[in-house]
Amino acid sequence: MAINEAKIITIASVKGGTGKTTTALNLAGTYSLMNKKTLILDFDLYSGGIALSLNIDLKTDLYKLSYDMSVNDYKNIEDYTLKYNENIDIIPAPKDPRYASKIEIKYINLILKKVKPKYDVVIIDTNHFLDATNLLLFDKSNTIMYVMNNSPLDLKNLKSMLAIHKDMEKENYIVVLNESNTHLNEMFNNYDIKNILKNDIDYIIPRTFYNKNINKYVLKGKIMILEKNIRMLNKNTVKVFNKIASDLLER
Ligand SMILES: Nc1ncnc2c1ncn2[C@@H]1O[C@H](COP(=O)(O)OP(=O)(O)OP(=O)(O)O)[C@@H](O)[C@H]1O
Ligand SMILES: [Mg+2]
Repeated sequence: MAINEAKIITIASVKGGTGKTTTALNLAGTYSLMNKKTLILDFDLYSGGIALSLNIDLKTDLYKLSYDMSVNDYKNIEDYTLKYNENIDIIPAPKDPRYASKIEIKYINLILKKVKPKYDVVIIDTNHFLDATNLLLFDKSNTIMYVMNNSPLDLKNLKSMLAIHKDMEKENYIVVLNESNTHLNEMFNNYDIKNILKNDIDYIIPRTFYNKNINKYVLKGKIMILEKNIRMLNKNTVKVFNKIASDLLER
């Protein structure tokens, strides 16, 4: 059992496909190398990819957990967590997406309360919608990590989103520019991005982390950053993930 309560890190974006799930997995991998007990909650409820990416059988999921809580059948959180390695557990998104809308948000609080004493870090993967579930998750997070790409649409929408955060004086977010999910040339330079966003970029996942074989890792259930050869070839990316991981433990 962790000595302190887990830090809650929610991975968010303002458009789909920016690299949230991949970042969630590599961040969990980084914490696992730091020997931190890590839980990934897959709150991308309609199309969660965490269990699939880790080759884990969906024996249980967030729907089953919230349902059991609602009918007083819940006993231990361990009945709902699935093990990936010594340090990483997951609770998947519902196996059947029709059940996604049946997860009542009032149980999110309770779920977080049950998992917090058991882990050092809880990483929450989300979708890019600003719905009640995600708003509640934001509210309960130590840090909201926006994963963005270098594209006009992303910049425009993230700028609006960060303005909302500032208005609400909820500034516990970081901005991660993910350059690794494309091999194509980027639109704007970092100076432009900062100017458009009116916000700093806190971390950059480098372009060199782009891997054309990423789907092979997914099919084998491997987290890229846990592979020795990948770490050797991507020392800069490893440094970035180490820095993000240790900074977020301090927040
Ligand atoms: N380092 C990388 N190298 C190559 N491709 C990558 C890399 N990181 C992400 N991708 C690809 O980019 C796409 C989006 O990544 P990912 O699924 O992590 O994003 P997401 O934000 O979780 O998407 P969604 O909004 O659909 O949940 C995927 O096809 C993934 O394979
Ligand atoms: Mg995803």
